[in-house]
Amino acid sequence: MGANEFKSLDKNLVSEIPNNHYSNKLIKKTSKRVYIESYGCQMNFADSEIVASILIKDGYTITKKLDKASLILINTCSIREKAEKTVRKRLEVFESIKEKNSKMKVGVMGCMAERLKRKFLEEEKIVDLVVGPDAYKDIPRLLQEVENENEAVNVLLSKDETYGDISPIRLNSNGISAFVSITRGCDNMCTFCVVPFTRGRERSRDPKSILKEIEDLKCKGYKEVTLLGQNVDSYLWYGGGLKKDFKKASIIQRKTALRFHNLLSIVAEAFPKIRIRFSTSNPQDMSVEVIKIMAKYKNICNHIHLPVQSGSNRILKKMNRQHTIQEYFKLIDSIREILPDCGISHDMIAGFPTETTEDHLNTLKLMDYVKYDFGFMFAYSERPGTLAAKKISDDIEDNIKKERLNEIIKKQQKHSLYRSQQYLGKIVCVLIEKISKKSEYFWSGRTQQNTVVVFPKENYKTGEFVEVKIKSCTSATLIGKAIKISNRI
Ligand code: SAH
Ligand code: F3S
Repeated sequence: MGANEFKSLDKNLVSEIPNNHYSNKLIKKTSKRVYIESYGCQMNFADSEIVASILIKDGYTITKKLDKASLILINTCSIREKAEKTVRKRLEVFESIKEKNSKMKVGVMGCMAERLKRKFLEEEKIVDLVVGPDAYKDIPRLLQEVENENEAVNVLLSKDETYGDISPIRLNSNGISAFVSITRGCDNMCTFCVVPFTRGRERSRDPKSILKEIEDLKCKGYKEVTLLGQNVDSYLWYGGGLKKDFKKASIIQRKTALRFHNLLSIVAEAFPKIRIRFSTSNPQDMSVEVIKIMAKYKNICNHIHLPVQSGSNRILKKMNRQHTIQEYFKLIDSIREILPDCGISHDMIAGFPTETTEDHLNTLKLMDYVKYDFGFMFAYSERPGTLAAKKISDDIEDNIKKERLNEIIKKQQKHSLYRSQQYLGKIVCVLIEKISKKSEYFWSGRTQQNTVVVFPKENYKTGEFVEVKIKSCTSATLIGKAIKISNRI
């Protein structure tokens, strides 16, 4: 998801929350310490912040030290087999820690919990608690069940957005940018994808609670929010409930329903000093209205993450993607026309079942047409329970998948470099986020297009918008020198 970062283990994810952050009542000395580790999409990282909030209300403090924890929670990803293997390996590490501290409890959250349900307890003896993405409010009760030595599993999926009333605790945040979820679940049923099974049906969040969360972030000094959903363009608020039940809504509900472009303009209008991003867009649902709203408001970032998965119509059909390559090109053309300096990124899958050399060459051709700024590229991984797993045999050999994936990655690197080079000698507006990994004397921030820029710190501070002149680049990073504080955003 958007910039759809599928990170593997982020060791720095969890921070020790300063004690003065909460009311004394909440943090009176406690032995209840939770360590939370997250994998997978941004939605999982956002969900972990909700879980942190729920547990703090239940008397926990957050720790980033595994050996200090009385409870370890791992927020898991099922999107590819490799993601699940990583989690299993981590559970082995937790097991060795538990050997030294038998009172410590281990809970599994997220998509693997939902996929495997109570089977998890049988397969992994170390696991005490299994909780799916819609059941996090039940964690305190489940922990009680663990204490009482009862089975602690809740994988019920919900019809409601579920967490709109919870103020997430920002974990290891840079204090500058934050995720705000706007929809949960997905109704699209792409044949390769496990998400509709693990995250349930699509539902949208009340715009009032979205605005409240952003207002809260603004008051805390945040400068950028990313509106999150599996498929943001299909946002639909008609008073609550599943998207698929919209047809049963009253005439008034239908007339006053809010769609994504409405939400986007309300947010942009309400927070003119905050950069707004969103992710992920699905080509079949992205409307020209959204592109026009982006053009209208300077604070909506000119970047669209627009996964296409394949450049072949035959494969798109087998994937149950509801658009053709021709329609995708039309959408790209509209973006280029309405927002000439928009960054565009993608997700691509190499070696979907039955993919021929010709299909693969069409993917490379599509990439040449769009020349994406960056992308997330994967080899097809069969997921149990999906339509593809049931109906189409995973017939592309691993070495061919790898070969095709490498060609796709190589092409992307070439295009990323091409895109970076277009900025040489130009002045870009950067929001300073953190110290650069390259050097402690450099800041790192991003342009609206989501390109990373590093430059000497001088007297600038995080959270400032600065004008930076670009002097050199790599395929992934622009390197420059700050000129002045920007009056752009
Ligand atoms: N709409 C979602 C997509 C989630 S999955 C979002 O918000 O990002 C993210 C990406 O993982 C997909 O776009 C796809 O490229 C990749 N992916 C999903 N299932 C996969 C599978 N079975 N094998 C390989 N890649 C997969
Ligand atoms: Fe997955 Fe397709 Fe939804 S990739 S998350 S089923 S849009």
